[in-house]
Amino acid sequence: MRVGVFDSGVGGLSVVKSLLEHKLFEEIIYFGDTARVPYGVKDPNTIIRYSLEAIEFFKNFEIDLLITACNTVSAYALDEMRLHSNCDVIGVVDPGVLALKNAVPSTQADILILGTKATVKSGAYEKGLNLLGYERLTAKATGLLVPIVEEGLYEGEVLQSALHHYFGDLEKAPDAVILGCTHFPLVAKAIDAYFEGKSTLIHSGEAIVEYLQSHYDFSRRFEHTELKFFASENPEGLRRVAKEWLNLA
Ligand code: DGL
Repeated sequence: MRVGVFDSGVGGLSVVKSLLEHKLFEEIIYFGDTARVPYGVKDPNTIIRYSLEAIEFFKNFEIDLLITACNTVSAYALDEMRLHSNCDVIGVVDPGVLALKNAVPSTQADILILGTKATVKSGAYEKGLNLLGYERLTAKATGLLVPIVEEGLYEGEVLQSALHHYFGDLEKAPDAVILGCTHFPLVAKAIDAYFEGKSTLIHSGEAIVEYLQSHYDFSRRFEHTELKFFASENPEGLRRVAKEWLNLA
C-alpha cells in the first residue's frame, strides 16, 4: 500500500516513525507545508484552504490512503479533504480518542489534552471524549512547544521553563496526557519526567497504528519501506530532520 502523510511541517515525522516501526507500508510519501508552518495559530478557513492544496499535491502520486498527521488539520479540515480526495483520508484525533479509551478505560480519569491554539479552540478531543463518557478534561494550548521542537531543544532549560509555564498550575499529575500535536512526542520524555512517570501519554503515531490495524488488513509486513519527502520550502531541511528523527542511514 502506498500512503501519503501530511503535516504542516516536520511534526508528522513522529507519525511516520510509528508507521515504519510497525512495517505497515510499502511506500510513504510525506509532505510538510514548511513554508506556512505553524497552522496552529491560523484561522479555520486558512487551515482548510492549505489542507485542500495538500490534497491536490497528493493527486500526483496515486496514493491508496492519506494520513493527516497533524492534529490541527484533523480538527478542522477532514470533512473538506474527504470531499476532494480520491482515497480515504484519516486524521489523528479520532484514533487518539480511541487510544485513550484503550489505555485508560476509567471514565473518571483526569485527562490533560495538549495541542496548538487552534486544536484546543476546536474542542475536537473534548467532543470525542465526552461521547465516550470522559468528563474530567483539561485542555491547554501549548504552542511554544512547537518551535522548541523545531529548534531541536528536546531537553534542557528552555523546554523545562516552557513545561513549568504550562503545567505549573496543575495540582497533581493527570492520569493521562494526550499529546494532541504531532510535534509533542519529540518532547514526550520530558513531559513524562515532569509528571514523574505518573501519567499515561497518548501519542498520535501509536494511536494511528492502533486505528489502522483495526480498520484495514495489514497481514503483509514490509521490511523495506520506500520513503519520499517533500516540503513547500527547504525540502533539504526536512530531509535532514527526517534522517535524524527516523535514524535513516
Ligand atoms: N503538527 C501540528 C499538529 O499536530 C502542529 C504544528 C502547527 O502548528 O502547525 O497540530
